[in-house]
Amino acid sequence: MATANPTPRVVITGASQGIGKAILLDLARSGQPVLGLSRTQPQELAGTAESDHLAWKHLDLSKGSDVEQCATSLEMPVRALILSAVDYGSSGRHPTAETSAKEWQQVVGTTCIGQCVLVSGLLPKLTANSPGIIINISSDVAILPAAGRAAYGASKAGLHAMLRAVAAEFSPEQLRVYQLIPTFQTLTEGIRSRRPAGFDFSNYADPALFARLAQQILSSSGGSIAPGSYLIRRDGSLDPYPETTNV
Ligand SMILES: NC(=O)c1ccc[n+]([C@@H]2O[C@H](COP(=O)([O-])OP(=O)(O)OC[C@H]3O[C@@H](n4cnc5c(N)ncnc54)[C@H](OP(=O)(O)O)[C@@H]3O)[C@@H](O)[C@H]2O)c1
Repeated sequence: MATANPTPRVVITGASQGIGKAILLDLARSGQPVLGLSRTQPQELAGTAESDHLAWKHLDLSKGSDVEQCATSLEMPVRALILSAVDYGSSGRHPTAETSAKEWQQVVGTTCIGQCVLVSGLLPKLTANSPGIIINISSDVAILPAAGRAAYGASKAGLHAMLRAVAAEFSPEQLRVYQLIPTFQTLTEGIRSRRPAGFDFSNYADPALFARLAQQILSSSGGSIAPGSYLIRRDGSLDPYPETTNV
C-alpha cells in the first residue's frame, strides 16, 4: 500500500460476513483493490498475509469519533464506497413502544449515523477520483412502513435520505450514488441468526448476487447504469425506483 501511485480502492463496510463479505472477496478475486471495514476480521483473512488487492481494517461504526478518524486518516485513494454494514437490532419483531433507548442508539448509531459519518469523511477522496461511486445496500424498509422493526426502518431510511442529499450536492461527473433496494431476502449470517432452527431458506438469494451487481455498477463508470435508486429483482435485474424530487 505504500507504492507511489496506488490504484484507488473500493472501501466496503460490513466486510466480515453476509453481503459485504461476498462483495469484498469477489472484487478482490477479480483483481480490484479493496479495503474491508468491520469489527471482526473476515474469516478468510484471519491468520493470512493480506494480498495487495485485499486489505482489512478494524472499525466500530457505533463510535462516531473512531469513524471520523478512520475516514480522514486513510492514506489510500478511494474510488468507491460500498455500504453493507447493519445492526438489525434485538432479535424478533417488536412494537415500537418496546424498543429501548439502548436499541435505538445501537441500531441508528451504527447503521445510519456511523455510515453517514464515514460518507461525509470520504467524500473529498471519492470526488478526487471522479466520478466517485457510492453503492448503498438499502432496504424496502427505507421506503415502506416497517411495523415491528422501527429502529431498523429508521436507520435504513435515515441513511437512504442522507445519500439522496449527497447525490443532489454533486453532478454525476463528480459522484454517482446508487441505492439498491432488494425485493427479496438473502441468506446471510445476520439473517440466519434471526430465524428459528429448521427455518426453510430455499427462497432466499445467495449474497453472490450482490457481488455481481457491484461488479456491474463499478464497471459501468462510462454511464451505462445511471445513478439513482433501484429495486433489485430476484433474477438480479435492476428496476429504476423513481424517488419523489418535489412536492
Ligand atoms: N439479508 C437480507 O435479506 C437483506 C435484505 C434487505 C437489505 N439488506 C441489507 O443488506 C446489508 C447487508 O446485510 P447482511 O444480511 O449481509 O448483514 P449481516 O450478515 O448481519 O452482516 C452485517 C455486517 O455489519 C457489520 N457490523 C455490524 N455492526 C457493526 C459495527 N458496530 N461496526 C462495524 N460493522 C458492523 C458486521 O460486522 P462485525 O460484526 O464484524 O462488525 C457484518 O459484517 C444491510 O445493509 C441490510 O440492511 C439485507
